[in-house]
Amino acid sequence: MTEDNTYKDHSEYIEEAGRIVRARSKAAGRRLTYHVTTFGCQMNARDSEKLTGVLEACGYVHEDDESLADLVIFNTCTIRDNADQKLYGHLGSLVNVKRRREDMIIAVCGCLPQEKTAYDRIVNSYQFVDLIFGTHNLFDFPELLVKVLTRQDVKGRGHLISEIWEDTDRIVEDLPAKRNYSFKSGVNIMFGCNNYCSYCIVPYVRGRERSRSSSDIIAEIESLAADGVVEVMLLGQNVNSYGRGLDEDITFAGLLREVEKIDGIERIRFMTSHPKDLSDELIDVMAHSGKICRHIHLPLQSGSSRLLESMNRHYTKQQYIDLALRIRERIPDIAITTDLIIGYPGETEEDIEDTLDVIDKVRFDGAFTFIYSKRSGTKAASMPDQVPEDVARKNFATVLEKVQQVSCEQASMNEGKVMDVLVEEVNRQDSSLVTGRLSNNLTVHFPGDASLIGKIVPVKLAECKGFYYIGEKM
Ligand code: SAH
Ligand code: SF4
Ligand code: F3S
Repeated sequence: MTEDNTYKDHSEYIEEAGRIVRARSKAAGRRLTYHVTTFGCQMNARDSEKLTGVLEACGYVHEDDESLADLVIFNTCTIRDNADQKLYGHLGSLVNVKRRREDMIIAVCGCLPQEKTAYDRIVNSYQFVDLIFGTHNLFDFPELLVKVLTRQDVKGRGHLISEIWEDTDRIVEDLPAKRNYSFKSGVNIMFGCNNYCSYCIVPYVRGRERSRSSSDIIAEIESLAADGVVEVMLLGQNVNSYGRGLDEDITFAGLLREVEKIDGIERIRFMTSHPKDLSDELIDVMAHSGKICRHIHLPLQSGSSRLLESMNRHYTKQQYIDLALRIRERIPDIAITTDLIIGYPGETEEDIEDTLDVIDKVRFDGAFTFIYSKRSGTKAASMPDQVPEDVARKNFATVLEKVQQVSCEQASMNEGKVMDVLVEEVNRQDSSLVTGRLSNNLTVHFPGDASLIGKIVPVKLAECKGFYYIGEKM
């Protein structure tokens, strides 16, 4: 990274915030607490690990109950309207809490405030919010924290600290992170998105696509491995275009080859693959790999070539089917999952038939199905022929039933086999069981205890329950 692209060290701000937090803890006779609520995708989850890393470095401790914490952060998503509503619901429930506890600090960050109308709504309707920042200056969090801890207006009370950047070309590497799991971690390989799918807000709230250098990525994964991480998930909105714009000559497949060499890393996952950029080189690397998981998430969005064109996806129905079948042929035990949008402007019965047809032919192992949500500022928002909600709901139910049926059938194919499971946690409902994941991303519950967490163990997949298995450790 060049000199002018590099941020100054954040440790000074972390130290400064730490001094204030310690002094206030002493005055209060207890540790100050935080609660981070995360909405949205894996990128946001990873960003939140950085926020909590900073907070813990400053001396805050975690508090389970949002309404009791001294500092609450909402790391937001705005991919669909229901994501926005989740934030407003949480903020609404804090109105009275904040009235009783003026010293509570409430922060909103992430994708939602990057959008102007949403930002205005937060500022105007939830005036008790203390700090707002966006996706491009997440790395300024230590400095913003100092600002919010030391701010005073004329009445001696706090005033809003708000910093949103339109875009950035910077990548910052030096924030501490507190992982949600000791044995697995997300790793950003690129930020932003340049694809401008007509329905999607992400390019507007996450900015231009930029890849991290492979040496930074490899160094991060090596240090994760040294710290006990066995599974990494490489994160980007379109990992298949990794490397574009970098000085070095590297593709996503090339990066995977390098990650594969890192001792201690046993499983490699990645999200998300855009079908238009998925190379034969990638299929090849996956087919020969002992570490890359047998799972690919390959969003289809719609089976209709006409709608795919309007969506700006750059592939046709047939191209998608051919690609998926090529992947299945080369990697027979792979699970292919997808995202589907129902109710995109202009969608007809015939388009739905096309989507059902692709589900039949590709036989998805899982699918996230979404009702189209109009996002202001996107191209699709101003298209004629917006689909009435009742029609979208009816089609949604039809498609959902179909994908569920197909993915249950797919899952049951492994019944009776013995497969490796990475154990993630003690089962939340039944503490005599542990829960883990197969390489193909399916969940397995089996008798065991906390000592298995983070280990990869062979498990007999005794009974398929549709979307998960009940197993027995071998
Ligand atoms: N970068 C990924 C997708 C990230 S967003 C990709 O292109 O594959 C995750 C999913 O949300 C998308 O795949 C899409 O199915 C869905 N989505 C995005 N915008 C949406 C909208 N306006 N309405 C409904 N679903 C949407
Ligand atoms: Fe959105 Fe398309 Fe970018 Fe995915 S590739 S984040 S759907 S614009
Ligand atoms: Fe949501 Fe932002 Fe991710 S809009 S899906 S949190 S990139």
